[in-house]
Amino acid sequence: MTACVLKRDAGLSGMHKMDQKKKFEPLGSGTEAVWGGEVPAQSGAPTQPAIAQSVAFGYADVDSWQAVALGQEPGHIYSRNTNPTVKVLEEKVRLLEGAEAATSFASGMAAISNTVFALVKPGDRLVTVKDTYGGTNQLFREFLPRMGVNVCLCETVDGDQIEREVGNGCRMLYLETPTNPTLKVVEIERAARAAHAAGAVVVTDNTFATPINQRPLELGADLVIHSASKFLGGHADALGGIACGAAELVRAIYHFREITGAALDPFAAYLLLRGMKTLELRVERQNANAMAVAGFLERHPGIERVFYPGLVSHPQHEIAKRQMKGGFGGVLSFSIRGGFPAVKAFLPRLKLAHRAANLGSVETVAGPPATTSHVEVSAMDRAAMGIPEALVRYSCGIENVRDLIADLDQALAGVSPQFAAGEVTECVG
Ligand SMILES: Cc1ncc(COP(=O)(O)O)c(C=O)c1O
Repeated sequence: MTACVLKRDAGLSGMHKMDQKKKFEPLGSGTEAVWGGEVPAQSGAPTQPAIAQSVAFGYADVDSWQAVALGQEPGHIYSRNTNPTVKVLEEKVRLLEGAEAATSFASGMAAISNTVFALVKPGDRLVTVKDTYGGTNQLFREFLPRMGVNVCLCETVDGDQIEREVGNGCRMLYLETPTNPTLKVVEIERAARAAHAAGAVVVTDNTFATPINQRPLELGADLVIHSASKFLGGHADALGGIACGAAELVRAIYHFREITGAALDPFAAYLLLRGMKTLELRVERQNANAMAVAGFLERHPGIERVFYPGLVSHPQHEIAKRQMKGGFGGVLSFSIRGGFPAVKAFLPRLKLAHRAANLGSVETVAGPPATTSHVEVSAMDRAAMGIPEALVRYSCGIENVRDLIADLDQALAGVSPQFAAGEVTECVG
């Protein structure tokens, strides 16, 4: 049983393309999230992508088998290489990101490590920023140097330094924006321009923003990476990763993945596909929830600082406004007065949040970087990266925002009664 795949140019409507007389109109992201890679069911066929839960695909005769194996005919041979259900997911993400090609992985980290290992070699130089996700950071600090790759970690928000370092020559510029967990913003367009002048490949982790809010390929990136385990899937029930972008680069990454074997399982692909149908609706709600929660927390006496690119007070708000067209994302972080003990008292009081190492799901999820994004990093390194020990990462779900705000309010009041909102006292004399 194979799922139907609709081949379509990046961002163009296949349906409109068929009608050559009509002007081509790109489909909206909400439509691509639903229909991308799929076609309306015909003649009793399933309306949903079928789960091709099979290791291999059979052929009655050697000639047709060989034609598929050699890539002369479309089809599938072995699920470590390609699989019909997985293909639908790749196509959906490809269309949403406006990419030429996409390939998928067993997790976001598999997407990141396979992309980097496929494209850099000993002696190469990779320029990146200090605030990448903890696992990515570990790859750059520990594994790449061990392979003889030189890694240059720039101050995330220092555009001049990034320009200068890529100008010194590099094979790859690796970006993540907004960053995990302090929501710093890197100006993709500026960094990509400098990297291309140096002949480098530009990779951007778009997990936090999602293609609903930000399309890095339009800003000059060559490749976009997602942990599909987060917003793309949206239901915290399947791991997955995607790399998409320029066809030639994706081909090289796919070839490497065929051999490393970090393939996405078809059942996980099915769950991710089911989640992705509502991507735009979820992300729009999460954007709005995060904006309202960030505004509430910014005014709360129990909060030291709020990190959210949608706030006018965010140091890179203007850059975020330019490159995040749809919204500022569903994740924010904040530091609580009272240090780590206050975080330990606060988190168990939340009634509407999972305390878990995850983000991007329909339920709100909260946790400190010390047990989530930067669990692999020492307290000293976290401090050096500007991650306060009293920080809480808060990934808004799709709940009603007044309930989330009330929940945060009661949890903060529980930590210390003086933190109850509204108790601002002006001392006179
Ligand atoms: C920005 C970002 N990129 C990549 C990853 C890794 O994804 P996965 O857990 O699917 O391997 C994460 C995980 O939290 C992340 O936050």
